[in-house]
Amino acid sequence: MSIQEEKIKALVERRATAKLGGGAKRIDAQHAKGKLTARERLAMLLDEGSFEEFDMFVHHRCTNFGMDASHPDGDGVVTGQGTIDGRLVFVFAQDFTVNGGSLSKTMSEKICKVMDMAVKVGAPVIGLNDSGGARIQEGIDALAGYGEIFERNILASGVVPQISVIMGPCAGGAVYSPALTDFTLMVKDTSYMFLTGPSVVKSVTGEDVTQEDLGGARVHSSKSGVAHFSADSEEDAIAKIKKLLSYLPQNNLENAPDLPSADPVGRTDDMLNSIVPDNPNKAYDMYAVVRSIVDDGDFFEIHRDFARNIIVGFAHMGGRSVGVVANQPGVLAGVLDINASRKAARFVRFCDAFNIPLVTLVDVPGFLCGTQQEYGAIITNGAKLLYAYGEATVPKVTVTLRKSYGGAHIVMSCKQLRGDINYAWPTANIAVMGAEGAVGVLYGKELKAETDPQKQAALAEAKKDEYNDLFCNPYQAAQRGYIEDVIEPRNTRFRIIRALEVLDGKRQEIPAKKHDNMPL
Ligand code: HXC
Repeated sequence: MSIQEEKIKALVERRATAKLGGGAKRIDAQHAKGKLTARERLAMLLDEGSFEEFDMFVHHRCTNFGMDASHPDGDGVVTGQGTIDGRLVFVFAQDFTVNGGSLSKTMSEKICKVMDMAVKVGAPVIGLNDSGGARIQEGIDALAGYGEIFERNILASGVVPQISVIMGPCAGGAVYSPALTDFTLMVKDTSYMFLTGPSVVKSVTGEDVTQEDLGGARVHSSKSGVAHFSADSEEDAIAKIKKLLSYLPQNNLENAPDLPSADPVGRTDDMLNSIVPDNPNKAYDMYAVVRSIVDDGDFFEIHRDFARNIIVGFAHMGGRSVGVVANQPGVLAGVLDINASRKAARFVRFCDAFNIPLVTLVDVPGFLCGTQQEYGAIITNGAKLLYAYGEATVPKVTVTLRKSYGGAHIVMSCKQLRGDINYAWPTANIAVMGAEGAVGVLYGKELKAETDPQKQAALAEAKKDEYNDLFCNPYQAAQRGYIEDVIEPRNTRFRIIRALEVLDGKRQEIPAKKHDNMPL
């Protein structure tokens, strides 16, 4: 064997050893916990044969606590580039078999390298997280490593899509990298995120709580909203990430790819002509409307289990990727509260940053009132959604289906927030408030003064009719040009698609500034 051949053989052997990470025993332990290894996860995520690994031979530089006895090739993270459905992505997957995936300074350098590359060439970054947090033996160096990653998350925000998948522990300050990315997905039963674990919680607050109840996938996807999705398994998680990517552009200078569909643009749906109940207090299912108007009824929902009174997610309409925001009359009557405002604001800002047009379906009775909401700063949180719509320069098409009252009317992408094309169904009520409340305010004293209950009821009814005739319809708004047209519900799909076509070349500026000061 020539010297060159010997060296090649040694390289092949070294690569094979490196690929074992922390070794066969630790891989078995990982499998026993129902988890895949970093490399198995990447193999599932990326197109076959597309993975190009970076920094396989990087070693940690720590000498504390006997760390210099072992220098596994690659340290505790596998990084590189590959493709998903033929589109370039940069990836890192923490390897729990090497020191519990804990973050060393060299690991952070590997992660930062792929993030820098992603921003340089304009491609998404996907991080698969499974880590015990800062590598304790490295002390401040590990913390510095996190700081470097966080700074890159911030600089990459709004430039390339950043996606975090939590597939194991993610605790302490480490949670802030996923929190800085655009989307976080957690795998049920095997992943958790919290600042401090159950034992610290017990010693500080006396509260008894399990890992799952403190920071499991169900908690973060339904209660806190920290996770945008939860997945039943690692396979399900990877499938969801691939689907998510299909709606996104590679970076902020590109548009999302079109997805041609056999679903006719001109398809109408008679069901929509009868979906709104006669009784304004009766609910209907906004999902039925969304599925009716998007291509092939295919709607990819974000934050499905969090703040269910508002629906947000991606779909294609006439092949174009769009972001859908819709009040859900079936949950809390579709009212806007703190969580609904936060959820929708974040989604609207993502779409705006990445050139994804917004389709808004409105049926909103107003903002939720009461001390709980006021003390929780519904004012500031509601303003987030207002701000997000007002600053967004992507095409904005809005359809008001039924209620659109007061401040909530303005927030939900009205004309004055630079809504581009606003339609209403004939059932729309665009007013300061509903008839009941309005008559109470305007005629409260007269109604109280009327002692005969029958006359009192008749007066209230007459005034409500007068109010309804004047305001509880779309025509006052239409007369003033605040909406472009009153449309037949069955035509909603093609009217929106036509509007989006018209808006393809939209250009709109915001005044030059260092950055905004949105109400965080
Ligand atoms: C060094 C670590 C480590 C860490 C785990 N290991 N976490 N090594 N630094 N942070 C090592 C373990 O010693 C063990 O090594 C191997 O990884 C696997 O860990 P196990 O404990 O055997 O696994 P498991 O039972 O599944 O428990 C996983 C775990 C637990 C829940 C993550 O290891 C744990 O609680 N680790 C510490 C978590 C933590 O407090 N991290 C610091 C958070 S603060 P051997 O050789 O025995 O196999 C933080 C600050 C970030 O991260 C700040 C950013 C600004």
